[in-house]
Amino acid sequence: MAFFVLKEKEMKLETLMTQRTDYKELGLVNTKAMFEQAMEGRYAIPAYNFNNMEQLQAIVIGCAQSRSPVILQVSGSARKYADPIFLKFMVMGAVQMAKGLGADIPIALHLDHGDTFELAKSCIDSGFSSVMLDGSHHPFEENIRLTKEVVQYAHERDVSVEGELGVLAGIEDEIAAEVSHYTRPEEVEEFVEKTGVDSLAISIGTSHGAYKFKLKPGEEIPSLRFDILEEVEKRVAGFPIVLHGASSVTAEHVEMINRYGGKLESAVGIPEEQLRKAAQSALCKINIDSDGRLAMTAVIRKIFTEKPEEFDPRKYLGPARDELISLVKHKNETVLGSAGKA
Ligand code: G3H
Ligand code: 13P
Ligand code: ZN
Repeated sequence: MAFFVLKEKEMKLETLMTQRTDYKELGLVNTKAMFEQAMEGRYAIPAYNFNNMEQLQAIVIGCAQSRSPVILQVSGSARKYADPIFLKFMVMGAVQMAKGLGADIPIALHLDHGDTFELAKSCIDSGFSSVMLDGSHHPFEENIRLTKEVVQYAHERDVSVEGELGVLAGIEDEIAAEVSHYTRPEEVEEFVEKTGVDSLAISIGTSHGAYKFKLKPGEEIPSLRFDILEEVEKRVAGFPIVLHGASSVTAEHVEMINRYGGKLESAVGIPEEQLRKAAQSALCKINIDSDGRLAMTAVIRKIFTEKPEEFDPRKYLGPARDELISLVKHKNETVLGSAGKA
């Protein structure tokens, strides 16, 4: 009997490694219910990017401790870095870890800035519950065509799809956008209708990375274009909107990095009050990557400077992970409003 149970287990593992994996087998959910609840409760689901074990643990622990639903977000290059198979099992482990912490929070795994059908398909086939097809740098019709192709494949497998209209300045994975342009609200209805996407990323003045604005001395950070967001909300009422490039570039971490030998000059992000306001609108998903990178880097730099004799990775990656846990809880509790919603 025990032999057969073991054999069955072995076969399940074999299937998970080699064949198509349904995200439900990993204990994940798609974004449908998350977005419906966020829309109704007027808060935003956090989408945190990760590349490695410590980041993934910190995001899941932070969300488990603050009882927040979460979208684990992976770019194409992050997936390559971690290795697609390793990533799948790491995420499966993270879901089980959350359960072990007594928190059965909804967890989605999302491809960030997917640029081809093949990449989106490969992610769906290896257990992602949500994918983005970012065709924002293509002409409108081509963006529709590419996005729709992904939607068809994804929806047959109950996987959510995010599209994008409007271009953010900065680096979007391998896509470098020199010039940004805001989303044109008049294009939104047609795009949503023709593609069948489940959510839409829009461009209202954010950008990726730690340098979001070039400010002259004494100049204030400009406001996000809430007028565009409102216009989009009117045209597609009740439809989930996504905000990329939403890091606040925490001054404390930038100062720490610079104090301990780093060189981040005039790094600046989106003020928290603006994100708080955005989270209460139709914005259901807020993307954060740079803030996590800064938090970990700041702590590691401090430890390397203060304890140059240290060479055990646990002694610097551990405190860096703790800092990221605090950051995640802070965002969920005081900015996005997602804490306590899971
Ligand atoms: O929007 C892009 C994300 O911040 C991921 O960037 O390609 O460096 O992983 P990455
Ligand atoms: P930040 O660089 O502002 O963290 O944006 C991350 C993002 O939009 C990932 O898609
Ligand atoms: Zn992005």
